Amino acid sequence: MQIDINAFKEARDFIVSNTAIKDLSPHTAVVLGSGLSHFADNLKNSSYAKVIPFKNIPHFSSSTVEGHSGELIVGKLTNSHPIIAMSGRLHFYEGYNAKTITNPIRVLSLLGIKNLILTNAAGAIGDNYEPGQLMAIKDHINLSGINPLIGPNNPELGPRFVDMSHAYEPRFIEYALKAAEQEKITMHQGVYISVTGPSYETPAEIRMFKSMGADAVGMSTVLETIVARHMGIKVLGISCLTNKAAGLSTNTITHEEVMENNAKVAMRFSSVLEKIVAQIYAEK
Ligand code: HPA
Repeated sequence: MQIDINAFKEARDFIVSNTAIKDLSPHTAVVLGSGLSHFADNLKNSSYAKVIPFKNIPHFSSSTVEGHSGELIVGKLTNSHPIIAMSGRLHFYEGYNAKTITNPIRVLSLLGIKNLILTNAAGAIGDNYEPGQLMAIKDHINLSGINPLIGPNNPELGPRFVDMSHAYEPRFIEYALKAAEQEKITMHQGVYISVTGPSYETPAEIRMFKSMGADAVGMSTVLETIVARHMGIKVLGISCLTNKAAGLSTNTITHEEVMENNAKVAMRFSSVLEKIVAQIYAEK
């Protein structure tokens, strides 16, 4: 079955008619992982802000995870840079298929988005990687066992075979490092490995991931990156390291710990994101 572009167009038209997108022409979007509600709140307070719950958008599904409320926000970040933010995302472990998870990225492209910042929470694997630090994703390993491009390709959206040798935009990583330095928060550059979850990993799995070259592990982002690259969108990925990965500390890993550590850096992470967006907007 061909991908139904008409469904994406319906979602796009709904968003255009319920926001100031036509006037703002945002070219950059941000997907906010759990715990970044501070960034979302800042955007919601901007003068043009419009918030649409995912459940109101045609063909969008709502996330079932605590901390991923599921809203699309259009506004002017720091009252100067127009962006679209997706607060909340869908995950494979919720039972959604790879296409459903990535449909919002298709719609962002139809809305004119050229740059995408994907954020997530991740377990720290790399040496000297600590909870409370950030990692700019320089590459990924897709260990989720799926690929959202499986099935007939629609050439209107992108090519059948997609180059992934430059999945993450090096220039944007530079912006991220600079912003983190200004905010005095450690930003590593590393490899993100994606798993389906929802169980966290075993220590043996983490040892294997480490030997494969992974620096952080998480349950999102990679499928979204693949679909964004399919459509030629430039991607920056940033992980918030919320815990030592399994076996690398004596702690057990809980969702509460992940959320707690996320919350501790949320303010600075939000400021880092604002500074990155400003640098992207300064490009033209
Ligand atoms: N593993 C997988 N996903 C995660 C983790 C982890 O340790 N922490 C936050 N998301």
